[in-house]
Amino acid sequence: MPKVYIETMGCQMNKSDTERMLGILENLGYEETKDAKKADLLMVNTCSIRQLSEDKAFSQLGLWGKWKKELRPNIKIGICGCVAQQKAKEVFKRASYVDFVLGTHKIYSLPEIVKQINLGQRVCECSETNQTEDEKAKEYKIDRVKTVNAWIPITEGCNNFCTYCIVPYTRGQERSRLPEIIIKEAKDALNDGFKEITLLGQNVDSYGKDFKDKNYRLADLLKEVNSIEGKFRIRFVTSYPTDITEELIETVVKLDKVCEYFHIPMQSGSSPVLKAMNRRYDRETYFKIAQNIRNKVPDVTITSDFIAGFPGETEEQFQETLTAMEELCLDYSNTAAYSPREKTVAAKWVDKFIDEDTKFERLARLNEQNRKCCLESNKKFVGRSMEVLIENFENHKGKNIITGRTRNNKIVHIPYDKDITGEFIMAKITGCKTWYLNGEI
Ligand code: SAH
Ligand code: SF4
Ligand code: F3S
Repeated sequence: MPKVYIETMGCQMNKSDTERMLGILENLGYEETKDAKKADLLMVNTCSIRQLSEDKAFSQLGLWGKWKKELRPNIKIGICGCVAQQKAKEVFKRASYVDFVLGTHKIYSLPEIVKQINLGQRVCECSETNQTEDEKAKEYKIDRVKTVNAWIPITEGCNNFCTYCIVPYTRGQERSRLPEIIIKEAKDALNDGFKEITLLGQNVDSYGKDFKDKNYRLADLLKEVNSIEGKFRIRFVTSYPTDITEELIETVVKLDKVCEYFHIPMQSGSSPVLKAMNRRYDRETYFKIAQNIRNKVPDVTITSDFIAGFPGETEEQFQETLTAMEELCLDYSNTAAYSPREKTVAAKWVDKFIDEDTKFERLARLNEQNRKCCLESNKKFVGRSMEVLIENFENHKGKNIITGRTRNNKIVHIPYDKDITGEFIMAKITGCKTWYLNGEI
């Protein structure tokens, strides 16, 4: 059996695509290997959200190119994901040993691509489409990573064009997948033993906006997934602040399987910066949205993303990001220094770029505030009894520990001698650190 190795970088969307591509390749007779050195086909599924991610993709390719030249001339090398979509044929110029470039729109053309590269051809398939690949998806099994959580994309692409972001260029126009295929994939995953379904999209709350023949939105989808029998959890990420509807909030409160957790990237705490980012809300609006959710959803956690050093950001404006994080008591935030991306609007504002030292110094302060917020957030749960879905069993410094998550996405460490991955337990929270809670059964 020929062996395939896929290195996956970037977000959950890429992880989900990798699981699908493995399913397609297994159908073609390939077997997955975790050892790149043993693979006949090497693929890197890339991310281009920041320059660093893109550089990582090319350095991975560079290493494999060396193997091919010096050790194993017969291996085939492919690049897929967001860098592939963005660079297309240019990849061949930079890395002449690459056999194929596969963008993000047509992963189901993989069987045809594999046929061609095995005939010695080079292939680039980066054409765009404004449709989903739902029809093709029905034909293949998904080779999911064996954890407790199954990712299910519900929308692809993004129409928001935030001025810093490359995603609309690498993932194309926003399109919603059909409810029936999502429900089928959810049922398949639950039958396979998964205990949590995470519905994925760059902007999940806009799910269904593009359906012409029906009025069916995220709240409707959640209701339908919730009605599938069995004990499991439902999550959905990522939420765009102003697209969160009252109906969605009520649905989260009402439905027993939908978890009390919202990921709502704010990006900046300063209204003028938000405007320059082309985000459709200001500081006050975000505060109102977050407060409303906190008032209505008991024990809810809200997490966010922030960018430090956006072009033109002043020290005062940056401080507004710090105070927003603090005043909103955000439970956790992903943080990054601004990285100019090809084709995006903000990348052209070179004269407003913040120097690297200032950017990274701001990022360090942002991370410090984030640590404080996380610890404060965790302290709120000490003494409580919470449901934990166990995800892992490991021996940590000579002690057996099970780890899992609460409904509101807090990580809990519990000393325990048996591997009970996949079980729901009640834990008493006995203490906390910055990034996790300690508990006992
Ligand atoms: N769709 C989501 C985010 C997807 S990208 C949303 O709208 O919030 C994930 C995160 O990467 C973004 O939230 C942003 O914080 C960060 N990001 C995107 N482009 C970036 C850039 N050019 N430089 C630094 N961070 C960036
Ligand atoms: Fe990027 Fe903005 Fe779309 Fe999120 S909403 S993927 S940040 S363009
Ligand atoms: Fe990266 Fe593409 Fe995801 S740019 S963050 S892999 S959508």
